Amino acid sequence: MSISIIGAGNVGMALGRAFTQRGEAVVFGVPEPARYAETVAALGVRARVTTTAEAAAASDVVILAVPYGALAAIAHGVPDWQGTILVDATNPLAPGLAGLSVGTTTSGAEELAKLARGARVVKAFNTTGAENMADTRYPGGAPFMPVCGDDAEARRRVMALATLIGFDAVDLGPLAAARYLEPFAMTWIHLAIKQGYGRKFAFGVLRRD
Ligand SMILES: NC(=O)c1ccc[n+]([C@@H]2O[C@H](COP(=O)([O-])OP(=O)(O)OC[C@H]3O[C@@H](n4cnc5c(N)ncnc54)[C@H](OP(=O)(O)O)[C@@H]3O)[C@@H](O)[C@H]2O)c1
Repeated sequence: MSISIIGAGNVGMALGRAFTQRGEAVVFGVPEPARYAETVAALGVRARVTTTAEAAAASDVVILAVPYGALAAIAHGVPDWQGTILVDATNPLAPGLAGLSVGTTTSGAEELAKLARGARVVKAFNTTGAENMADTRYPGGAPFMPVCGDDAEARRRVMALATLIGFDAVDLGPLAAARYLEPFAMTWIHLAIKQGYGRKFAFGVLRRD
């Protein structure tokens, strides 16, 4: 079974590369597939690019790696998602990275779930930089990848994908926890860009018995 990724920019390509390198087949969906033919071909035979609608129908796991503003049109583009695991990797960023345009009493992911009829929406891959999705190796251990969603099986599937590419996947429970994950993404962005930390860092979880 393939994994579909809508959007083939920083996040889409990073995840696509990581999955294909581990033997998964990836179907990218973009508005103009021809523009991405060369970039996707460079990932090898396990990757292909097609239209957004075709990619959305091609797999039972569909990852949204597009600007937040594109979500409504993509959600409505499929009349019934029929149990598709719809992974929301987006962040509802305010212009100029000034903060989030949605939050505290809802989240981008919950708003998406209202629009994508029949989908099992899972929030994941939004809290760290695309470079960390392309390469999860850190000397201190595996980077933290929190995952939330209302369907337990969907969460498990997405956690398995995050684990496959080297993340420390952590189950945050229901989709409403995306209210915490989207601001948490801003913590990474704020440090990386506004505080000048750079993009070569990731958050990890420390544990003891
Ligand atoms: N960059 C990061 O490090 C990072 C990390 C975590 C989460 N995120 C979030 O992930 C999302 C994607 O970020 P990005 O940096 O990968 O963006 P990006 O590099 O700008 O890529 C966006 C991709 O989405 C495609 N797209 C735009 N509108 C579309 C539509 N209606 N249907 C299908 N595809 C569409 C674009 O295609 P065209 O080229 O044809 O426009 C492009 O391939 C954002 O919500 C961002 O906040 C980013």
